[in-house]
Amino acid sequence: MTEQRKILVTSALPYANGSIHLGHMVETVQTDIWVRFQKMRGHDCIYVCADDAHGTAIMLTAEKLGITPEQQIANMQAEHQKDFADFLIGFDNYHSTHSPENKALSELIYNRLKANGHIAERMITQAYDPEKGLFLADRYIKGTCPKCKTPDQYGDNCEACGATYAPMDLIDPKSAISGATPVAKESKHLFFKLPEFTEYLREWTRAGHLQEEVANKLAEWLDGGLQEWDISRDAPYFGFEIPGEKDKYFYVWLDAPIGYMASCLQYCEREGRNFDTYWAPDSEAEVYHFIGKDIINFHALFWPAMLSSAQYRTPTKVCAHGFLTVNGKKMSKSRGTFVNARTYLDHLDPEYLRYYYASKLTAGVDDLDLNLDDFVARVNSDLVGKVVNIASRTAKFVQQQGGVLAPEVADTALWQKFVDASEPVAQLFEAREFSRAMRDIMALADVANEYIATQAPWSMAKEPGREKEVLAVCTLGINMFAALMTWLKPVLPKTAAAAEEFLSTELTWRNATLFLGGHKINTFKPLMQRVELDKVNQMIEAGKAPAPAAAPTGWLAKDPLAAEIDYADFAKVDLRIAQIIAAEPVAGADKLLQLTLDLGGETRNVFAGIKSAYDPATLVGKHTVMVANLKPRKMKFGMSEGMVLAAGPGGKDLFLLEPDAGAQSGMKVM
Ligand code: MSP
Ligand code: ZN
Repeated sequence: MTEQRKILVTSALPYANGSIHLGHMVETVQTDIWVRFQKMRGHDCIYVCADDAHGTAIMLTAEKLGITPEQQIANMQAEHQKDFADFLIGFDNYHSTHSPENKALSELIYNRLKANGHIAERMITQAYDPEKGLFLADRYIKGTCPKCKTPDQYGDNCEACGATYAPMDLIDPKSAISGATPVAKESKHLFFKLPEFTEYLREWTRAGHLQEEVANKLAEWLDGGLQEWDISRDAPYFGFEIPGEKDKYFYVWLDAPIGYMASCLQYCEREGRNFDTYWAPDSEAEVYHFIGKDIINFHALFWPAMLSSAQYRTPTKVCAHGFLTVNGKKMSKSRGTFVNARTYLDHLDPEYLRYYYASKLTAGVDDLDLNLDDFVARVNSDLVGKVVNIASRTAKFVQQQGGVLAPEVADTALWQKFVDASEPVAQLFEAREFSRAMRDIMALADVANEYIATQAPWSMAKEPGREKEVLAVCTLGINMFAALMTWLKPVLPKTAAAAEEFLSTELTWRNATLFLGGHKINTFKPLMQRVELDKVNQMIEAGKAPAPAAAPTGWLAKDPLAAEIDYADFAKVDLRIAQIIAAEPVAGADKLLQLTLDLGGETRNVFAGIKSAYDPATLVGKHTVMVANLKPRKMKFGMSEGMVLAAGPGGKDLFLLEPDAGAQSGMKVM
């Protein structure tokens, strides 16, 4: 084995302004598989992340909820960490960009950029919400497109005709926050002088840090000329104040990538490690950033330029991935395909998705599709039908002979195929070609299954005197299973742990090709359930945005639908069929009737407010529905021992509920 590498890995920091969804999970699953693989190879690899906590959006959300931004980001971070943990994402540290470490590092880096002459100052004019006292980013301004006149368009481009324009060019622009008409207002902004790094970046982007297609895209931008980058925002803003300035804050994207360093720093301080090992200019550690293709410019232009100016090392690799589509289309709330991590977890096993993503992920930036039928078919056929099946078809025969594997390899040529595959599979993981790794692993699972099917230990076991052969065949089966599970361990950590328990050994890359001969194994327990399409459909239903409720009209507007209750609450209400055997007006009460109700032997006295709608004489003999276990209530006119059910707004429009013919007094209503 090669020398131990020191590797720091990150996933992009999710915004603290929303929940984790299956799109985010593409990235964390990809990163986590790669990290687990590196750890299994014996490398010193750490995986850090954080919530990206700053910006206007978070400030506005907190305001809407009536809490402080600090509370809001704490709530979101707790939710994010729980979601990731339940998806078996093994962070070594998870921090926040709103942290003392990040503040200190952001100030330090900014001060270095400034000292190096890389910060410029300029007055700029922006749209300003005079009511809210807030400069408005383009997405917070709406109005009519100046070109095609479509109303309700955002401040930067028109969704209808594709025109791009300045927000103040909109016809009748309005602040999306307060509805006020924005005014143009000047203020001083600070800029990072990115154009000074053009030559540096031309080289850096071609020095093996990026995927080729990404480098090509960036070359176009570099040729087009880089712009200075606006790194300041005026108060009010939720972020870090810029040292030496008044009421100016770092733009969220300035301190966000520094959050990688801050999380690493917190980890190093906790674990007694040296931060410089990872970030000093001459660091020998490797730094990998896993990101989505939408944030390449921040990671492959601004970030290396900032780091080099501030005398830190730059990333070894920025690994960009594509976007998730579901059933071939963009994730959509109305189709129910905008699935939150929690919604998925409420219905399905995280390992199904981890495997499915692995089977689709490449080292490229192409989008990947979660096709739900294919998801069910592939997980069932590959994991349950192929891999787990090998163990379930062979384990019992080993168990029958005492649970100790045979010492010899029944078919050395076959076993050699597995031995030979181990290193190439590792190379595919290393290169982030997970899809090809999964394909090769499944091809070997097919080979293993064919061998077992041909040998048919279940028939052999019926023939006396062939015990040794049965044990040898099943031993090879178990060993092939162990090798497959070793290679799948970065993808399926939970199932791999169960397999380790069954095999009574630790699955490491080094052990993958060591034949377990004469080794005692434990009883086999089913390792994985099949995915049910039903569960997938339930998840999609649950993911659908609730249809906007039709606005209640009339009396319902005053009396909206009550809050949801559990079945247990409902079951407490004892509803019974009752027959009205007497009905009288109540002297001194203009709304009440006194009813005598027969509950099938037992009678009840009930005062009901239905006089406005019913002549008492017409009620006698009718069946209705009553709440029979309502606590008796003493009224001015006597005891009321229950309640009858009626519907409507009141007055003349009040309708006593009547059961269908056949319902008898005393029957329980269910
Ligand atoms: N906060 C920034 C990143 C700062 S990194 C210093 C951000 N946050 S995000 O929550 O919008 O996205 C986090 C990551 O998830 C990004 O890498 C983004 O590309 C990725 N994805 C978000 N939606 C995605 C899909 N639908 N599909 C795949 N990845 C997606 O950007
Ligand atoms: Zn338009």
